[in-house]
Amino acid sequence: MSKPFEIFAATVPGMETTLQEEAIEKGFKHAKAVPGGIAFLGHWTSVWRANLHLRGATRILARIGQFRAYHLAELNRRASEFDWSTVLKVGESVHVEVTTRNSKIYHQSAAAERIENAIRTQLRCPIVREASGGIRVRIENNICTLSVDTSGEPLHKRGAKAFVGKAPMRETLASLFLRHCGYSGDEPVFDPMCGSGTFVLEAAEIASGLAPGRNRDFAFQRLASFQPERWKAMLADLTQQTTPFVFTGSDRDEGAIKGALANAQRAGIEDCTRFKCQSFSDALPPDGPPGLVMINPPYGDRIGNKRQLFGLYGALGKQLSTHFKGWRVGLVTTDGGLAKAMGLPFKPTDAPIPNGGLRVTLYQTNPLT
Ligand SMILES: C[S@@+](CC[C@H](N)C(=O)[O-])C[C@H]1O[C@@H](n2cnc3c(N)ncnc32)[C@H](O)[C@@H]1O
Repeated sequence: MSKPFEIFAATVPGMETTLQEEAIEKGFKHAKAVPGGIAFLGHWTSVWRANLHLRGATRILARIGQFRAYHLAELNRRASEFDWSTVLKVGESVHVEVTTRNSKIYHQSAAAERIENAIRTQLRCPIVREASGGIRVRIENNICTLSVDTSGEPLHKRGAKAFVGKAPMRETLASLFLRHCGYSGDEPVFDPMCGSGTFVLEAAEIASGLAPGRNRDFAFQRLASFQPERWKAMLADLTQQTTPFVFTGSDRDEGAIKGALANAQRAGIEDCTRFKCQSFSDALPPDGPPGLVMINPPYGDRIGNKRQLFGLYGALGKQLSTHFKGWRVGLVTTDGGLAKAMGLPFKPTDAPIPNGGLRVTLYQTNPLT
């Protein structure tokens, strides 16, 4: 067996330790939280497993080489000496992205060109900007680190979710917020403003023990290291467990509810999910034990008018405090004032998290009394 190499799972900045916790739970025992993600040592099968199983990772990079380069001619020589056939297949399209920091080589596109030339000369790979996957090069303090993007399409694209609502939460971040609220699949989850159903679908998949990447392809399937038979065996080992809990979403937008239902069917979790078209002011807890209300209401800067939103958040808080006793609440919003307008006993928060060009904060309560 070849030597293990470094694998980097990128995530949303601020959520590194939450992803680390997930990775350790899923068998990546020595995963370390580092800025922007987690790092661990492994082989190609670990790369496949990380892509297939890590809900909170946005992309998996495999470190394939490292050398010192002080100028472009040296980069050219080193890139030409690198054996690209250990990573890439002859003729497969590829693209190269370079970032530089604190280094003598500062011209990113000139550096990318040197590396692209080396790959083209060795393997006749066409350089295609839009090619998914690709080589990521970081030149920092004159050390050039080569990585290959093994995911391709970002990992929040689970494959089964064809309908996307107006202001969707990314699946990766939704799963991390659920985990941050202490959710591990053993309680019901309810989202009274569910849109395309991201929180409900993620929660139901976690409770059903489903692998997030089971319905999609990955860039590693086009790399030289790919072994289709071993991958097939890994997929054949996947299981689905039944859950006694029900995962419920409602929204006043009928189109969103139809889309959420279709998403649940495509994901194969329609048995444990329920979606209903209604205003949150009619939302009551589903039968059964209390659990977690997870919700991201409209934010002012994205959809809706901010002033009206204060009324909406206030009414939502009242509905939850009146009817959802015993339930915990996880609220994601951009505005502390709106969260306050709910009048719920939120615990102190962590720093805001970037999401779709905005910064969102997770507000949490203990079980409501
Ligand atoms: C930010 S989006 C939620 C996105 C969702 N988490 C997703 O990932 O698709 C807010 C949702 O609140 C819904 N909404 C707004 N006012 C509502 C109300 N009074 N009752 C129920 N839903 C409402 C909107 O239709 C929208 O789908």
